[in-house]
Amino acid sequence: MTSTQPLAALNEIPAYLQTLLDYEKQAVQHLAPDVWGYLSGGAMREISVGQNLSQFERIQLIPRHLNDLTQGNTSLELFGQHYPHPIFLAPIGHQQLFHPQGEAATTLAAEVMQSNYVLSTFTNTAMDQLNPHNPYKWFQLYWQGSREKSYPLIGQAEQYGFKAIVITVDAPHVGIRDRERQLAFHLPNDMQHPHTPTHISFPDVSPSEHKLFNGLMKVSPKWDDIEWLVKNTQLPVLLKGVLHPADAKKAIELGVQGLIISNHGGRILDTSISPLTALEIIKDHLPADIPLLYDGGIRRGTDVFKALALGASAVLIGRPYIYGLATAGALGVAHVIRTLLEEFEVTMALMGTATLKEINRDYIYRS
Ligand SMILES: Cc1cc2nc3c(=O)[nH]c(=O)nc-3n(C[C@H](O)[C@H](O)[C@H](O)COP(=O)(O)O)c2cc1C
Repeated sequence: MTSTQPLAALNEIPAYLQTLLDYEKQAVQHLAPDVWGYLSGGAMREISVGQNLSQFERIQLIPRHLNDLTQGNTSLELFGQHYPHPIFLAPIGHQQLFHPQGEAATTLAAEVMQSNYVLSTFTNTAMDQLNPHNPYKWFQLYWQGSREKSYPLIGQAEQYGFKAIVITVDAPHVGIRDRERQLAFHLPNDMQHPHTPTHISFPDVSPSEHKLFNGLMKVSPKWDDIEWLVKNTQLPVLLKGVLHPADAKKAIELGVQGLIISNHGGRILDTSISPLTALEIIKDHLPADIPLLYDGGIRRGTDVFKALALGASAVLIGRPYIYGLATAGALGVAHVIRTLLEEFEVTMALMGTATLKEINRDYIYRS
């Protein structure tokens, strides 16, 4: 692939690829069964995976008519920066599992579509390989077991022009994923992760100590590490995976500037609260100007609208853009973003809202 060639074909997409769900149906045909299980699956019985999708069906839209929308636009401002639209790409690790060009293809597509992307700690493509002048990129940090080991990643994110640090706090332990275990999924031994080993090493525990509580939990991040992080970077810090309003309040008190309300796509803790419900609750507990972002189950433009109506400033998509990547590389990712954005724009027009600021709970109904 040369850099822009495949994207020139954006207008020649086959007719069977109309929606994000169409990409899901195609992607399964491009991936080995264990990789498909890893990508599409979730924790335990995958109840949260299903609920992340079905929660949107319970919310009905109440359109307003006859408004003047001729000045309409989808732009927003976050942390003093302008973003053309609210559809961002969630951090997803190990993207060369899904396409040989991995994050290089994804980030190219995101840049062309002016979609803010969040690069995972577990990227196969190094931060310095990405366009330093693209203003729409954030870095997702998985805590590296200590401040000393985490700090270099933060320094590099600052050096290479990333605009925010997203620290994921909902996965101090990997989810118990039945499907993945049954399929014996594991990462290829020769896979390159330029910034970190894939798993932080467990501290040694004595025979009398508990392997999990005295081991892994010793090196997982704590609230004072968040406080330290906020003080040791010039970039805004967001917490990803917050679901409890008390955690949300505490984070903001410590100087965290935004939250991503998420249950990690249902991959960590099965039957966790639906993130859309959590978004609504957390919105009511925080000052109105604190940016809340949302991810989990966004598949249609109407889903984007509903998340914004419940208090999100922007949304992130995870699996759908990887379905695009697996199906058609950078072109597929770009088309997934464009499809969702067009659906959202049409939804805004049909709902009678000209700007994101106008979207609120008055436009939705729950029976
Ligand atoms: C295969 C896969 C890998 C992921 N890797 C990461 C990661 O490295 N860091 C992270 O914070 N979240 C990770 N996530 C979670 C996503 O960022 C996001 O929260 C989730 O995919 C959103 O749900 P959706 O897939 O329904 O859009 C991953 C999700 C998937 C499916």
